Amino acid sequence: MNWNSDLINSLTWSADIINIERKQKVADEIATKVKDGDILGVGSGSTSYLALLAIAKKVNEEKLNIKAIPTSIEISLMCSKLGIPLTTLYEHRPDWLFDGADEVDPDKSLIKGRGGAMFKEKLMISSSPVNYILVDESKIVKKLGTNFPVPIEVFPQALLHVEKELRRIGATGLMLRPAKGKDGPVITENGNLILDARFDEIDKGMEQKIKSITGVIESGLFINYNIEVLIA
Ligand code: A5P
Repeated sequence: MNWNSDLINSLTWSADIINIERKQKVADEIATKVKDGDILGVGSGSTSYLALLAIAKKVNEEKLNIKAIPTSIEISLMCSKLGIPLTTLYEHRPDWLFDGADEVDPDKSLIKGRGGAMFKEKLMISSSPVNYILVDESKIVKKLGTNFPVPIEVFPQALLHVEKELRRIGATGLMLRPAKGKDGPVITENGNLILDARFDEIDKGMEQKIKSITGVIESGLFINYNIEVLIA
């Protein structure tokens, strides 16, 4: 028996989608890659959401069997609405994944995590052999950090230690990300805080330098990952 939930049936994206026409183009392009039997890693953010809608349409029309491994509650709920069965990294390794990004530099390094899901997004990209990053042109930058800070997920009790260490490795601005829809800071799906960090220079070692600070769960820097970038 299925739930007949108005909450699930009425789910939609929670904000206006910026550059929706371009995002829709890459969303439609990624849907053409889906094959029967695929296990898909599904990233988070509005581009991933549009891609999931396009994939669900194709799956229904062509009667394909696929499974999704989501990177956030928002995407899990959307899969449930769209009738896409979920699985986990315990049971399956993804055949491939799609995800969005906030910035892409000429070396295909990324800043991600505006949506706060960078820990599971990085876990998924590290687990998947083939990775498509879907972006519109506004995400292409010459230098990481041009438009977005680097989001860093921090174990709450480690906040002040992490602040001190981030300043030591060159952070010039740090902001504890505030929540919308609740008082106080954002609490991630893993129960942690998010610091948005500005750096004047983000060198190739920065991802590792940030990760080596005790109390940092993960950052939104993705330097030299095995990805293909689809740009609309
Ligand atoms: C989610 O945590 C993020 O990494 C998103 O993938 C990224 O912020 C891109 O978001 P949009 O697709 O909404 O632009």
